Amino acid sequence: MRNLLDIMDLSTDELDSLIKTALDIKDHPDKYADACKRKKLATLFFEPSTRTRLSFEAAMYELGGNVIGFSESSSSSAAKGESVADTVKVVSNYADIIAMRHPKDGAALVAVRNANVPVINAGDGGHHHPTQTLADLLTIYREKGGFSGLTIGLCGDLKYGRTVHSLVYAMSRYEGVSFVFISPEELRFPRYIIDDVLEKNGIPYSETSDLEEAIPKLDILYMTRIQRERFLDMNEYERLKDSYILTPEKLVSAKKDMAILHPLPRVNEISVAVDRDPRAKYFEQTLNGKYMRMALILKLLGLDGKPSDEAGDTVRDVIYDRFKCPNHRCITTTEQELRQEFYSVDEEKGIYRCVYCDTEIRK
Ligand code: NCD
Repeated sequence: MRNLLDIMDLSTDELDSLIKTALDIKDHPDKYADACKRKKLATLFFEPSTRTRLSFEAAMYELGGNVIGFSESSSSSAAKGESVADTVKVVSNYADIIAMRHPKDGAALVAVRNANVPVINAGDGGHHHPTQTLADLLTIYREKGGFSGLTIGLCGDLKYGRTVHSLVYAMSRYEGVSFVFISPEELRFPRYIIDDVLEKNGIPYSETSDLEEAIPKLDILYMTRIQRERFLDMNEYERLKDSYILTPEKLVSAKKDMAILHPLPRVNEISVAVDRDPRAKYFEQTLNGKYMRMALILKLLGLDGKPSDEAGDTVRDVIYDRFKCPNHRCITTTEQELRQEFYSVDEEKGIYRCVYCDTEIRK
């Protein structure tokens, strides 16, 4: 059984094939109108969502399937204290596939481990958001005709913004790609991803806090919202919230064919005047997300007519209960039955990471 926990669960060949299917769905929707007849998708959203949940639901309906689910934890038994593990065990009896969003980092792994049906991670805390990346990839593909050789600027909350984490993993697999990370000092892109993906593979990147200086070299500018809900200190949020506001003036020095992406919701980081700029692609991006989610549902249900490439979970040696995850947003802080699980990054230097949220500790 295949799940989608993080974007690296899909090979680049599989991504190509999802893009092909998504484009075919766009051009020939009738061909797919009954593809998921009598199948049910459960959308378990423990955290607010407009695009992700509704595009999953629209995707399933357009495939001829049905949808059950909840859109806030207060209307589910989570409000009574039910664990994620129990919730997905129950829902596995009612649905053929699950899309789950949860505020805790690593919650999606708990779901995968307890479900009897495919699970799609629709966002786990500040960790991963692979289906947004599918939307991003189709948008980039449609704008640029491919992925190689692009310079991608990521701007805003690069620390807590899960979409940029997943996008960097995905894009780093293509030839000649480079990244410019634009953020305030406090919200820099996570070191563990830079080490694992960019440093390890010699992929060029630079870090700056200056959006205007970065703009002229970019092929893609990916703006993000400062993630208010993930701050412990609201004063810090207030201080950082308007760090970047993209305006038509700032775009004067940008390439004529630079594409502006944003996973949305936008709060204040792109002025509405930019919407009229033909380079603004963030509303098209939401439609692309629906096509890619349709392609993904077909794939995970084995209805795409392609043999399943069972890449499966990464097999890692884990150490149980020796360390405690220091990340207060990790799912191990709320699911009481979970053991502390760490994998070794560098045994000699004593570097380990939490299996659920990838938070690094040094012993
Ligand atoms: C993003 C998310 O939920 O991470 N939204 C989305 O799914 N399109 C971005 C965000 O909330 O800022």
